[in-house]
Amino acid sequence: MARPKIALIGAGNIGGTLAHLAAVKELGDVVMFDIADGLPQGKALDIAESGPSEGFDANMSGTSDYADIAGADVCIVTAGVARKPGMSRDDLLGINLKVMKSVGEGIAAHAPNAFVICITNPLDAMVWALREFSGLPHNMVCGMAGVLDSARFRHFLADEFDVSMRDVTAFVLGGHGDTMVPLARYSTVAGIPLPDLVDMGWTTQDKLDAIIQRTRDGGAEIVGLLKTGSAFYAPATSAIEMAEAFLKDQKRVLPCAAYVDGALGLNGMYVGVPTVIGKGGVERVVDIKMNKDEQSMFDSSVAAVKGLVDACKGIDSSLT
Ligand code: APR
Repeated sequence: MARPKIALIGAGNIGGTLAHLAAVKELGDVVMFDIADGLPQGKALDIAESGPSEGFDANMSGTSDYADIAGADVCIVTAGVARKPGMSRDDLLGINLKVMKSVGEGIAAHAPNAFVICITNPLDAMVWALREFSGLPHNMVCGMAGVLDSARFRHFLADEFDVSMRDVTAFVLGGHGDTMVPLARYSTVAGIPLPDLVDMGWTTQDKLDAIIQRTRDGGAEIVGLLKTGSAFYAPATSAIEMAEAFLKDQKRVLPCAAYVDGALGLNGMYVGVPTVIGKGGVERVVDIKMNKDEQSMFDSSVAAVKGLVDACKGIDSSLT
């Protein structure tokens, strides 16, 4: 049986890390696409040359021709630019919206049956635009944010409690970044919810609030340290977890930016929600009940995402 084919659109920091992880985990053959001359080819060759030592069987290739992604089972999109000093949110939105148009058309023409995971920011608006431009079914197009946000939350909690990260679960909803909604009562250490752990004296409410804020600011913290770019190891690992759930029909329950139509009181929009990912792509949105405070945080997050989508519609009149 042929190996699955994984197309990585964007061969920058995240794209290169995705390729390396996909190879080491033997998820399939990898083709990296980028407009930068030689970059995808160079990274693909470099990773291929790590194969004999690591011992993986996977073909690695780089291209600047969309025809080479033909028949991909998974496409992970990181193409675009990150925000630079002096650039407004709308400037970034305008540039990356154009990138989503070319990527969406490339995927529609050459890999219309792929499961598409978008990582390009601003995530919730970009995944919506990518779906619109590609015309793929909504369940086959989603965005990576929640897995990363919850991984950061889990890491900080494990540190605070001095327990293994494996025993910490975290639940986040809403848009990526500032408006992310961490649900403390659904986040646990070995099943014990965070509010109970505060009552048990494992931590204080103040410390928990600080961890939640640090999680929301997780991307900015890394940018502040790196100075020349944004996070790439954890974002790539998170997207690979989602791709693996699809390729191996794992039915993983993972938070991601998914199209929600009916659940959580929403009518047809992309936002971060808990989902089930298996061979059908986003197979289910988990329709949880929120309390008043959680609902109001979620509503603000939804409003922020709608604002970005409206801004996209203002920039490109073909989007309605
Ligand atoms: N088509 C294909 N590739 C493109 C296009 C395009 N139209 N425009 C830009 N690219 C490529 C660039 O050449 C670059 O190699 O996208 C790549 C982006 O890589 P990096 O700048 O290293 O960015 P990275 O850290 O990988 O992040 C990518 O993910 O988390 C988000 O905010 C982040 O939007 C950013 C994206």
